[in-house]
Amino acid sequence: MNGDADPCREGFLSSLRDEFLVSRDDARGMIADFHEEMRRGLAGRPSSLSMLPTFAGRPRGTERGRSLFLDLGGTNVRVGQAALDGQGRVELAAVERTVLPRTIMSASATELFDFLAGCVDRFLLERGLDDRRPHDLAFAFSFPLEQSSLLSGRLVNWTKGFTVPGVTGEDVVALLRAALARRGREGIRIAALANDAVGTLAAGSYADPACDLGVILGTGTNACYYERTERIERCRGDVAVGEMIVNVEWGNFDRLRANPWDELLDRSTHNAGRQRLEKMISGMYLGELARLVIVKAAAAGLLLRGANHAAVATPHALTAERLAVAVRSADPAGAVGIEGAAPADGAVVAWICRLVAVRAARLAGAAIAAVISWRDANLERGHVVAIDGSLFERFPGFRENMREMLRELFGPRAAGIEFRRVRDGSGMGAAVVAVVGPRTGGGAGAC
Ligand code: BGC
Repeated sequence: MNGDADPCREGFLSSLRDEFLVSRDDARGMIADFHEEMRRGLAGRPSSLSMLPTFAGRPRGTERGRSLFLDLGGTNVRVGQAALDGQGRVELAAVERTVLPRTIMSASATELFDFLAGCVDRFLLERGLDDRRPHDLAFAFSFPLEQSSLLSGRLVNWTKGFTVPGVTGEDVVALLRAALARRGREGIRIAALANDAVGTLAAGSYADPACDLGVILGTGTNACYYERTERIERCRGDVAVGEMIVNVEWGNFDRLRANPWDELLDRSTHNAGRQRLEKMISGMYLGELARLVIVKAAAAGLLLRGANHAAVATPHALTAERLAVAVRSADPAGAVGIEGAAPADGAVVAWICRLVAVRAARLAGAAIAAVISWRDANLERGHVVAIDGSLFERFPGFRENMREMLRELFGPRAAGIEFRRVRDGSGMGAAVVAVVGPRTGGGAGAC
C-alpha cells in the first residue's frame, strides 16, 4: 500500500499485510491440521472440530411432500412452507422473515422460544393455515447440536453472541414443543431438527446428486458433508450402513495463526477461546476486525489525522454490510461514517477492509478444500458445494477470492468444484430433511 511516504505508516501497513496473509503453504498446513482434527472428532476424541452426527441421509430427489419450517439464524427468524415435487425441485409457497430483536439473544429461554412459537403462530394466521389441522414443522437451528435422532438435539453451546441461559444441554425440540403448546399449537408435529449447514446441503443435494458439501457463510460459518457411517466411530452399535450428514462445526477450528487483532477481538467476545475460525471468517466479526485496525492506526497517528472517526469508535460500530459498501466506494472512509478523511487515508481504509475480507475468503476456500479432499483426496470427481449466507451472496469479491484459493491449492482440477448458491437453504433444507426422513435409521441414541 502506497498511501503516502510516511515510513511509520508504511511499516504498519506492511506488518498488517503479513499478519493477514494466508499463503498457499499456510493453507496446505491448515488442511493437514483440519484432517487431523476431523479424524479425532469422528473418533469422539478431543478436537476443535466436533463432527456432529445428524441422522440425516442423502435425499434421492424423488421424495414428495410438504412441510412448514422455522429457521432460527443468527440475525433473522424465517417461517415458511416448502413443497418437494419429487423431481428435485422445492417450491417455497411463502416465507416470512422477522429480524431477531437483539434483546432476545440474552433473554430467558422461555422468552426466546415463545418468540419463535409466536412467529409460527403469526405465519399460520396470516397465511390462512389456521385450520388447526396437524402440520409438520421442520426446525432449522443454526447452532451446534448433539443429536441422538432426527427429532431431538441438545444445544452444545451458543455462538454468534447468543447467551440465553437454560438452553445449553437441553433438547431444543422439547423447548419449542412446549412453547408451541403454550400458544395452543399442540397440533404441530416437529418433523425434523437440522442445523442450517445441514439444511443447505440437503436442499442442494435434493436438486443435484453431485452436491456433497453444505456451507454457511453469513453471520456465522459452518459446513457439513456426507460421511460413511462406518467412519463415524463416535457412533457405536447399531448404526445402519450407509451415509449420514456430519456437521463439522468448522467455526470452532482453532489450529490457526492468530494475529494480534484476532486476539484482541477474541478477548472481547462472550465465547473467548472458541469459534476461532468463525471469528476470522464470518459476517459477525469482519467489521469489528477492520474497525480494531482502523482505530488503532488512528490512535497511533498513522491514519485519519484531523478526521472525525467517532462513528467507528465503539465496538461493533462497523458491520460487514458497511465493509462491503466501503470496498467498492469512491469514498471508503465516508462509507464507514468517517468524516473529513484525506483521500489517501480513504484509500488505506478501503485497503484494510479488503485485507480482512480477502483473508476471510481465502480461509473459507482452504476450509472447503479440506473437507472436499477428506473424501476425495485427489479430486477424482466433480463436487457441487451448496452455499448460503450473506457474505457469499453479497460481499464484493468474496467468492472470487475463495475460488482463487482453490486454484492455488488444486490447480486446474479446481474447475471441478462448483459453488452453488442455495437461497433460504437452511429452512427449505430442513423441510427436505423432514420429508426425506431418517435414512440411516436404527442408530437412534447410538452416538
Ligand atoms: C454455529 C453453527 C452454524 C453457523 C452458521 C455457527 O456459529 O456454531 O452451528 O451452522 O454458525 O450459522
